[in-house]
Amino acid sequence: MSSDAVVDKGKRRFLIAATSVVGAVGAGFWLVPFVSSMMPSEKAKAAGAPVEADISKLELGQLIRVEWRGKPVWILKRTPEALASLDAVEGELRDGVSDQSIQPEYCKNKGRSINPEIFLAVGICTHLGCSPTFRPELAPSDLGKDWKGGFFCPCHGSKFDLAGRVYAGVPAPTNLVIPPHYYINESLIFIGEDKGGAA
Ligand code: FES
Repeated sequence: MSSDAVVDKGKRRFLIAATSVVGAVGAGFWLVPFVSSMMPSEKAKAAGAPVEADISKLELGQLIRVEWRGKPVWILKRTPEALASLDAVEGELRDGVSDQSIQPEYCKNKGRSINPEIFLAVGICTHLGCSPTFRPELAPSDLGKDWKGGFFCPCHGSKFDLAGRVYAGVPAPTNLVIPPHYYINESLIFIGEDKGGAA
C-alpha cells in the first residue's frame, strides 16, 4: 500500500468520526424541543390546578366568583329564605333530584352542596355556555311574580334556582355543574379536587 493510500484512509476515518459527532449534536438539538413540547408547561399546569377560595368574609346573600380552569366558579352564601325557596320551586324543575346533571356524589342533594348554606357551582349555562346572571330578588318585573330568586341566562332565557337546578321548559338541559371540592377548614374551600384526590 502506498503512503498516499494510508493518508487517504486516515482522512476518511476522521471525516466519518466528525460527521457522526455533528449528527449526534444535531439530533440532540432536535430532540430537546420535541421532548419539552410534550411536557405540560407551568402555565398549562396552573390552568388545570385546583384553587383555594377564602369564604371567611362572605356575607349572607353574597356571591363571589373565583376562577378555576379558566371558568368562573360562583360561591353563594344562602340566606334562610334562599334555602326555603328550594322547597318552593321543587315542582317546577326539570331535574330536581339531579339525576341527569353533573355534580359529585356528595352534592347530589336538594341544595346540591356539602354545607347547605354554601352553594358552589360553575357559572356557565348548560345550554350554550353563556354566563347566567345572579338574580336573588323576589318577583322582579322582568322575571315575573313567581320568581323566587336564582340565576337567569340572558342568552336564551334559561332559569335556575338557588341550587343551580334548571327549570322545566327552558333551553338548558341540565342543572349547573358542581365541581369537585372540599373544605380545608370552615373558611377555606379547595376547588378542583376531592379529599380523595379525584379531580
Ligand atoms: S346559553 Fe344560556 S340559555 Fe342558551
